[in-house]
Amino acid sequence: MNGHVPVMLAEVLEALSPRDGARYIDGTFGGGGYTRAILEAADCRVLGIDRDPDAIARGQALVAHFGGRLTLVQGEFSRMDELADGLSDGVVLDLGVSSFQFDEPERGFSFRADGPLDMRMSREGESAAEHHSPGSYLRLEVADTGPGIPPEVLPRIFEPFFTTKGEQGTGLGLSVAYGIAQAHGGWIDCESAPGQGTCFTLFLPAPAQASEEPSGPHPAFAG
Ligand SMILES: C[S@@+](CC[C@H](N)C(=O)[O-])C[C@H]1O[C@@H](n2cnc3c(N)ncnc32)[C@H](O)[C@@H]1O
Repeated sequence: MNGHVPVMLAEVLEALSPRDGARYIDGTFGGGGYTRAILEAADCRVLGIDRDPDAIARGQALVAHFGGRLTLVQGEFSRMDELADGLSDGVVLDLGVSSFQFDEPERGFSFRADGPLDMRMSREGESAAEHHSPGSYLRLEVADTGPGIPPEVLPRIFEPFFTTKGEQGTGLGLSVAYGIAQAHGGWIDCESAPGQGTCFTLFLPAPAQASEEPSGPHPAFAG
């Protein structure tokens, strides 16, 4: 934890008020700053979760330090209910990127040093570069002011055969649209706020630069 300063630690401890015998979840373990402070504040237990395997590996020193009071699990905090067997007296989340991830250029998060466009917290799956190739894109937004898409549904909207319309739906419309965008080297983003509306943004690679176009007047104006 050298040089690692957890943000708003005093406020977090005040809000959580750790007490002896309690069980807490640190859903974004990171450098372990919150976890360490919680375990030092009371004779309690902490389940630390982080999707970054490096954070879990680095945290083994704290596991050893606090004996059986700290358990670390690699995973997403969205699974905390399952990982903690539903048992918890309090949860802390420190959402975002850790200083360790920023400090290692090869992770692709750094603003200070060049590195590959990676940005995978879990070090698994597609890197940002594989997902979206750097370059120029045309962008088309389609938005409505309707009821919005529930947050639990949003991650699945492009899945083939996923539908919320029961037998009335095929679950193919958005997945086909996404497939067409991908086939052209693009993608579709979706942002939605329940009660406010939804915005789909289609990105498609921009055509060749104007400098590659033939110079001279348009044929329609040629003499
Ligand atoms: C700002 S750091 C947390 C720092 C921590 N509070 C400390 O004191 O050291 C955020 C951490 O959340 C992790 N993270 C981001 N998204 C996550 C997710 N969906 N599930 C679990 N961990 C996640 C990142 O890997 C990163 O280590």
